[in-house]
Amino acid sequence: MITINDMGEWWQLVYRRGGASFVTANELHVPVGAVVSVTWSGAFRSREPALVIDRQGRHQLTAVAIWPPRLRHLATIADDTAEFDRWFVREATPAVNRSGAPLFTNAGCSLCHVIRGVVAEPSMIAPDLTHFASRRTIAAIDLPNEHGYLSGWIVNSRALKHGSEMPENNVDAAVLHQLVSYLESLR
Ligand code: HEC
Repeated sequence: MITINDMGEWWQLVYRRGGASFVTANELHVPVGAVVSVTWSGAFRSREPALVIDRQGRHQLTAVAIWPPRLRHLATIADDTAEFDRWFVREATPAVNRSGAPLFTNAGCSLCHVIRGVVAEPSMIAPDLTHFASRRTIAAIDLPNEHGYLSGWIVNSRALKHGSEMPENNVDAAVLHQLVSYLESLR
């Protein structure tokens, strides 16, 4: 079961299966060919309570809101069952590399972002970064999750995405380098 929360500029994704549940963002994974129960919240709603993607690989779901009219994409990956299960188990686990806690807190990132096992209880809600490095794009758009883009995003996200609600982060070059390396370790 997946709940897809429309956060305006990004997607919050809540997964539940058996006793396990976790929150992630922006990249929807489903097992190929399986019937997945989906609940949409926010402007995007569906009369279809289920989703089936029958072709393996990377897709783009298009969500359409009738009024006010809006169209957004959701990066979607359909994996075979074994691969999906590996992804699910990994996502449900807290971050393995926990060394970034002081870095994240000192740079102010923990005001808004969760990295499970590292920083929690942010005062503002932003995408969960626990396994950020396993996502292929940044910020729910076609921006590759690569070193250069990630550095640029952290300093001034609005230069890369007009509507971003992430403020500029005034971090010096050494801290930025450490932040990017840390985020890249979060598989
Ligand atoms: C005031 C809240 C706030 C602070 C502080 C903040 N962020 Fe963000 N961040 C956001 C929001 C909101 C988004 C989603 C923006 C969007 O997609 O339009 C985001 C997105 C991101 C993303 C992309 C996530 C994804 O799923 O693609 C990364 C990476 C990120 N922030 C890293 C950082 C780092 C590193 C810091 C600290 C230097 C930081 N953020 C500080 C609010 C914040």
